[in-house]
Amino acid sequence: MTKNKSNEFDSLVSDILENEYFLETKKDLHHGTSKYEHSLRVAKLSYRLGRLFKVDLKAVARAGLLHDFFFGTRKEKPENSYLRHPVTASCNAKRYFNVTDKEAEAIKTHMFHHVLLKKLFPFINRHEEASIKEFKPKSKEGWIICVADLLVSAMELERFQFTYAANVALLLMFNVIMFKN
Ligand SMILES: [Fe+2]
Ligand SMILES: [Fe+2]
Repeated sequence: MTKNKSNEFDSLVSDILENEYFLETKKDLHHGTSKYEHSLRVAKLSYRLGRLFKVDLKAVARAGLLHDFFFGTRKEKPENSYLRHPVTASCNAKRYFNVTDKEAEAIKTHMFHHVLLKKLFPFINRHEEASIKEFKPKSKEGWIICVADLLVSAMELERFQFTYAANVALLLMFNVIMFKN
């Protein structure tokens, strides 16, 4: 990222990066790294993609940074589970950072690719409910957070790259369908 873009990115999210509750995410392990590092990578990639697709940069930077803003690991509490943590993160983002409705919705729908995967293979996380209508991204910003999280996660979890590549293909197909009009 160039210095100008880096400065702009920082100005959009500095209040979050300095916040004592957000700094708690440094303690949580996520995809073999800290949740803080993972979230920062997703936010920076979302910002880059946001510039490319000319969307609301503040929304993608902030939603990217807060997309996994829940406390503890996904196994610790039911509300942190594989498919429920986006709802928890979205509520936390509203509560601690008063994010916009668009940002909250983008956070809530960031696991859409996993919802699709679960519909194809229902035995994955058998006890979790997955609603396509509820968790399909409702804006371009939402799609960007979803794709950025997927790509960053694939880089962080190299051994699952094949699964994630398949997810990307599915996601892109749905993207094309959604934006064909
Ligand atoms: Fe997540
Ligand atoms: Fe994530």
